[in-house]
Amino acid sequence: MLNAVIIGCGGRGQIFAEYAKQYPNEMRVFAIAEKRDYLREKMKKEYDIDDKYIFSDYHDLFEKGKIGDVIFIATQDNQHIEPALMALSAGYKNLMVEKPIDRDLKKCILLSKKAKEYGAKLQICHSLRFAPFYRKMKELIDTGVIGEVKHINQTEGVGYFHQAHSYVRGDWANEDKSSPMILAKCCHDMDLLVYLTGSHTARVSSYGLGGFFSEKNAPEGSSARCIDCKISDKCPYNAVRIYEERPNTTGRGAVEKEGFSNLEDAMRKGRYGRCVFRCDNDVVDHQVSNIMFENGATANLTMTAFTKDCNRVTRVMGTYGEIVGSFNDFEIYVKPFLGNDKKYEVEKIESGHGGADTVVVADFLASARGEKEMCTPIDISIESHAMCEAAEISRRTGKSIEIADIMSDKEGALL
Ligand SMILES: NC(=O)c1ccc[n+]([C@@H]2O[C@H](COP(=O)([O-])OP(=O)(O)OC[C@H]3O[C@@H](n4cnc5c(N)ncnc54)[C@H](O)[C@@H]3O)[C@@H](O)[C@H]2O)c1
Repeated sequence: MLNAVIIGCGGRGQIFAEYAKQYPNEMRVFAIAEKRDYLREKMKKEYDIDDKYIFSDYHDLFEKGKIGDVIFIATQDNQHIEPALMALSAGYKNLMVEKPIDRDLKKCILLSKKAKEYGAKLQICHSLRFAPFYRKMKELIDTGVIGEVKHINQTEGVGYFHQAHSYVRGDWANEDKSSPMILAKCCHDMDLLVYLTGSHTARVSSYGLGGFFSEKNAPEGSSARCIDCKISDKCPYNAVRIYEERPNTTGRGAVEKEGFSNLEDAMRKGRYGRCVFRCDNDVVDHQVSNIMFENGATANLTMTAFTKDCNRVTRVMGTYGEIVGSFNDFEIYVKPFLGNDKKYEVEKIESGHGGADTVVVADFLASARGEKEMCTPIDISIESHAMCEAAEISRRTGKSIEIADIMSDKEGALL
């Protein structure tokens, strides 16, 4: 049984911790660092953590040196590097760091180098590679049943309600305060494309815009807060309905993130109760990226707010057939050009990201026990961050961006 330290006990930190409830013989939540009082209380109650191992800031936790076997870094975007570096110098050898590693690619490369220097294993939580759905898809591609992969079409349907929650009202609405949306939302889709093509990226181009969620599109008669809005029944972005319908996911986030005790207060006073057309968001609401791989395969990744469900749909086109699947359906279809189509059912594991939220922790612990190689070590994961940076530069400049140029520029800056 491994003693886990969790840095940041918001949405993701709690998801990591839940593994200890399901598999108490494998992991115990031994120590935490969390700024928010009510989350520290909640974690203490749920995991029976000794007071001396509960910290309100990770700086205090690291002053104690190494106090656990494995460490999870689940602070917000752009707050991963410092605690990860502190964990390395405190002597932790097995680290799980949430994605995105950081919006600054130089810092990502620096962290990767430091992990090597310290002889530590550092896994990035690129969940999709751990999802049974995508593992099955990769296994099918590797059998050669569709020949050589020539093109992949990946659609990340963010979902109108999830866009409203996270990218208009919430944490990832504003690029300066978080990251470009392509990095925040889709670095693991980029990573997935590398995984499925079995190649590396040569160049990327991208187009995308935001702007729908702005005051000029506010319907007549709408108000600043959905709870008082006279036309809320007609608005799909009505926060009260969105959260009442999803009490355990976005609903929980809307209440917990700002420390409210109930939804009504959150809707009356908090940022998640604001009219979706009257927020300060500046990230895109739709973006398409085109990727050219070194082996000649191409891919396109569509990230769009305007879908009914949060779902990914993947279509892999090979020289002798296609593989098609919708992530939420747990079904994959293999369609060879000759012969019959075949449906594969994917194992359903009851946790987020199609079961990946459980598998990612299981694999991380197995790697810490020396039983398995990590499948998303930081040095592999960095490529996806370079792809996102290239997509963002391309979106702004209209140019096609070479990954080698981006990497040599950043690596050079570190010398
Ligand atoms: N892998 C995935 O599929 C996936 C999915 C969603 C989010 N994420 C990523 O996970 C990360 C965390 O997201 P979240 O939704 O859990 O965020 P969150 O804001 O809910 O949680 C972060 C927590 O860190 C705490 N914190 C900040 N500074 C601290 C400090 N100095 N000491 C101790 N605690 C501190 C905050 O109080 C907060 O509770 C983000 O980078 C996000 O992009 C990954």
